[in-house]
Amino acid sequence: MLNRRTFIQNTMISSIGLSLVNSDHLMANQVNTDSASLCPEGTGVQVNDEQYWTKIRALFNVPTQFINLENGYFSPQPKSTMAMHQKREDYINTQTSMFMRKEQATSIEASRISLAHFLDCPSVELAFTRNTTESMNILIAGYDWKVGDEVIIGNQDYGSMVDAFHQAAKRYGIVIKVAEIPLHPESEDDLVRAYTSLFSSQTRLVHLTHLINLTGQVIPVAQIADKAHLAGVEVSVDAAHSVAHLQFTIPELKADYVSASLHKWLCNPLGAGFLWMKQEHISRIFPLTADGEYPVNDIRKFEHQGTRPIHTLETIHESIRFHQKIGSKLKQDRLRFLMRYWVTKVVDLPRIKINSPYLHDYSCSAIANVAIEGYTPAKLSDRLFAEYGIFTVAIDHPAVQGVRVTPHLYTSLEELDKLVLALKQMAQ
Ligand SMILES: Cc1ncc(COP(=O)(O)O)c(C=O)c1O
Repeated sequence: MLNRRTFIQNTMISSIGLSLVNSDHLMANQVNTDSASLCPEGTGVQVNDEQYWTKIRALFNVPTQFINLENGYFSPQPKSTMAMHQKREDYINTQTSMFMRKEQATSIEASRISLAHFLDCPSVELAFTRNTTESMNILIAGYDWKVGDEVIIGNQDYGSMVDAFHQAAKRYGIVIKVAEIPLHPESEDDLVRAYTSLFSSQTRLVHLTHLINLTGQVIPVAQIADKAHLAGVEVSVDAAHSVAHLQFTIPELKADYVSASLHKWLCNPLGAGFLWMKQEHISRIFPLTADGEYPVNDIRKFEHQGTRPIHTLETIHESIRFHQKIGSKLKQDRLRFLMRYWVTKVVDLPRIKINSPYLHDYSCSAIANVAIEGYTPAKLSDRLFAEYGIFTVAIDHPAVQGVRVTPHLYTSLEELDKLVLALKQMAQ
């Protein structure tokens, strides 16, 4: 749902943008609408209505050689999204520099407005990047650090972000403190305390991974952000896995900065992400690539990537439409349902350990992590693939050791039954 400020801002920009949009672009959007209509409406559908989900499965190119339960790396696109991507690539290839010089700016703004509506934020606070890694590096490398500033990260944050903070520590003399995240918290307060207990008068920024990729655990970002702001601490969120997976809007996170990739759960083609930040912060942050085109308080200064695949950004309209046909709530609930479907069938078996909080909606997602006593993560994942044709990923991290299992909207219950059988046999 759009809040009033966002709606007015985006509508003003949208009407300026639309008067510039040429007929080809409108035509492309028309085609978008038609192809998204292949997706059946999710309104009123139950999480366990397998007839509906079988129709959704048919909209993806599902691998036939193996069962893909490693959908956390990036998401396959529905066939209609791939078709739109190809269509726009064909168009740009035909128009070449004519498109780049006369149409791309308007086209990018139209995509920005679509995404801003989806995230419920002003489009002037939204920069396109190639992925979360780039977004977070823009922020961490461009932040106005002072020697002795403290940043709080978590012990299960994504490696590239941890590396970026360590590089900033070497360059700018910042101090990194690490919150230990309990794998099975008693309540959300346990998670909030893990971060807030580290706040000091030197703390500038707390970095939160909204949905932890190792285990699927969800961090209560808004609760931590409330406490951070009271302590004068800014909040950065790595939302790589939560956008279009969990149901939320940017304002609900109460953060200062949010980074995400659109090729994960929004199912957009590879190579698009975003960096959102509150308007008041934009002028303070340096872009990663120098920009002489936009004023320092213009979010587009962060987008100076040189020549880039605009068709990937143009496909965002289609990716959002597909997502909305199913609906954020239903998608989130189905993904949790799939996780619990297999987890609850194996959790009580001897030798099996579930490294994810799977019971409470506030703490879980599609992803869960499983270990079997006597198996290293690599051995478990290798055997699942070699003997059962089930593709997962081994997680051998100081905080968590096991195999990450990530179903998708197209995953069938029969596939999960095969996983359950495999785990039971291996645990015997
Ligand atoms: C939590 C988290 N953050 C960031 C990333 C990086 O995403 P990308 O490679 O799209 O930049 C990932 C990738 O899996 C992730 O799991």
